[in-house]
Amino acid sequence: MIAPQHIAHLKTLLPANRHLDPDNPQSAAYAADWTKPTSTCISLVLFPETTAQVVQIMSYCHQHKLAVVPSGGRTGLSGGANCLHGELVLSFDKMNQIKHLDPIGMTLHVEAGVTTAQAQDVAREAGLMFAVDLAAKGSSQIGGNIATNAGGLRFIRHGGMREAVLGLTVVLANGEILDLNSNLYKNNTGIDLKHLFIGSEGILGVVTEATLKLVQQPRETSLLLLAIPDMNAILQLLSEFRKQPAPIQAFEFFTHSAYEVVHQIHPNIALPLDQPTSHYVLLEVEVESESFEKSYFPLLERLLSEGICADAFIPTNTREQGEVWAIRERITESLAASGHVHKNDISVPVHALATFELEVLQITQHLQPEIRMILFGHVGDGNIHLNYLGNSNMDRQKFTSQCKETEAQIYPLLQKLGGSISAEHGIGLLKQDDLHYSRSAAEINWMKHIKQSLDPQGILNPGKLL
Ligand code: MLT
Ligand code: ZN
Repeated sequence: MIAPQHIAHLKTLLPANRHLDPDNPQSAAYAADWTKPTSTCISLVLFPETTAQVVQIMSYCHQHKLAVVPSGGRTGLSGGANCLHGELVLSFDKMNQIKHLDPIGMTLHVEAGVTTAQAQDVAREAGLMFAVDLAAKGSSQIGGNIATNAGGLRFIRHGGMREAVLGLTVVLANGEILDLNSNLYKNNTGIDLKHLFIGSEGILGVVTEATLKLVQQPRETSLLLLAIPDMNAILQLLSEFRKQPAPIQAFEFFTHSAYEVVHQIHPNIALPLDQPTSHYVLLEVEVESESFEKSYFPLLERLLSEGICADAFIPTNTREQGEVWAIRERITESLAASGHVHKNDISVPVHALATFELEVLQITQHLQPEIRMILFGHVGDGNIHLNYLGNSNMDRQKFTSQCKETEAQIYPLLQKLGGSISAEHGIGLLKQDDLHYSRSAAEINWMKHIKQSLDPQGILNPGKLL
């Protein structure tokens, strides 16, 4: 815990109503992300409103070696924002200003606490698009998106946060400010330091502002929900759609078990297909409905006749499109409401997906019957979310150790296939022991050197990532 004299001083750095003490019931939410640890412990939550205030807070914490956890919307799934040792939480809830939108340069300058949905809305109102799109967009914040290098539903078309960030304002552990690149598209003047902070999970610096790249809105998109017999057929489908002229905006998949979990929690969400199949693909292409019918209907007919597709539903209006997207977007929260959840967020080269799935299903068939394996994810990017769902009456520790045992067989398989133990959720608190499956000893060593030189006191998000 942080000593009372430091708490008292830190409070004086902000106006009176800009903090929460740990005895305030509202503070509990700031100690945990969506992984919901069984116990948490914080010393204080601070709500700075400016970069200058963050500088003052960090300078003081550096001077007195106080641990700080930068905190966005806390929708993370690897414990990156969890506080277990009485840390100071630096929340960006009050730094939520849209600073500037440049419609010609297609850039958006925001403070770190702006939500993903807010950034999308202002871009849309200007006739443009902020392309990073997540199921958690209503509460996830841009600063957290940057710290975790969020990917999401449209990665296949536009990439993730690394592609979406043009410039950053970062406050280092010692309170120094770095203004990195601002809003230039081209700036070839040496090492691009902003990339150090994107995906570094808040251990190297605190992002306070960002300039984001916007893209042109597609004139129209067409959505398809396809029932597919297996992962091999999903890859064939991807290959067929890759050959078409219209860009793929999203290529997501979920299994029938994933759908059942959603339907159980939200009975009003129903699959608009006659035949239940093992896999479903949600495919969004940038094409107007008229040309879609002309050029894609014959393709669909062929895919149906060849058995690559078992059934298809094409929403005809935005309401139907929303209903189809809801199945995919509600999976995470429905899982959380259905029992114990343990997540492996993996990626493999796209061509290896079928082999990977087959081997995973062989490994996981030895799981106890109280544990179901639920698969979904951004299959077009080679990213599968493997979710172990345990009955809520199962002992939590027993559940976790079963999942870990299985994981210990899946990770070497990933290594063999050239995959990653975390495609997009990050390492956080939960996956540090397994980082070596995806990063060499030399890489981990250099990451530690970088951490040491930017945060020699080790005060920024201690215990995370490394
Ligand atoms: C998603 O794709 O919906 C998220 O990454 C969340 C999850 O894996 O649970
Ligand atoms: Zn995801």
